[in-house]
Amino acid sequence: MTKFTVNDRPIQYRMDPQTPLLWALRDASNLTGTKYGCGTGDCGACTVDIDGKAIRSCQVTIAAIEGRFVTTIEGLSPDRSHPVQQAWAAQNVPQCGYCQSGMIMTAAVLLRRTSNPTDEQIDAAMTNICRCGTYPRIREAIKQAGRIMRGEERVAAAPAPGIAPADAARHVPGLTPATKD
Ligand code: FES
Ligand code: FES
Repeated sequence: MTKFTVNDRPIQYRMDPQTPLLWALRDASNLTGTKYGCGTGDCGACTVDIDGKAIRSCQVTIAAIEGRFVTTIEGLSPDRSHPVQQAWAAQNVPQCGYCQSGMIMTAAVLLRRTSNPTDEQIDAAMTNICRCGTYPRIREAIKQAGRIMRGEERVAAAPAPGIAPADAARHVPGLTPATKD
């Protein structure tokens, strides 16, 4: 069994160790905010945070991340209060929305490294693909999130979430809480 931490919760997966993390998150943990786009590591829709790095979850097996810490879009904040989420809502970034959780996770990792990224740093970090072309709004939202993080700007709270975190991670047969051996 493969054990690691997802959104601060220790989990052991009764799945083939070669299962891509994307499918463990979506099919076993019911964390469907992480999206499948290409499955080849190109689009970034499946991006999650693993130990502080933006990683494309379709490209890593669950065996490869034994003992590590994974954060998905559902775990970024309990109430959509993360500065990136606040700025995303303020800038009305999403269009269809499919790429957006991957974009947000990538932006959150970038801003943890530097809260005042240059355009070049944004371009280098944000290699995710958006078929709707929301790139200009993403750039503005990253800059605004940086200002929020630096205490230079406040925005109105994001709308109340419609899905409780507990609902997003409800128990399913393939997922059991880690036990002490
Ligand atoms: S689904 Fe993983 S990069 Fe596209
Ligand atoms: S908002 Fe539609 S793919 Fe990015």
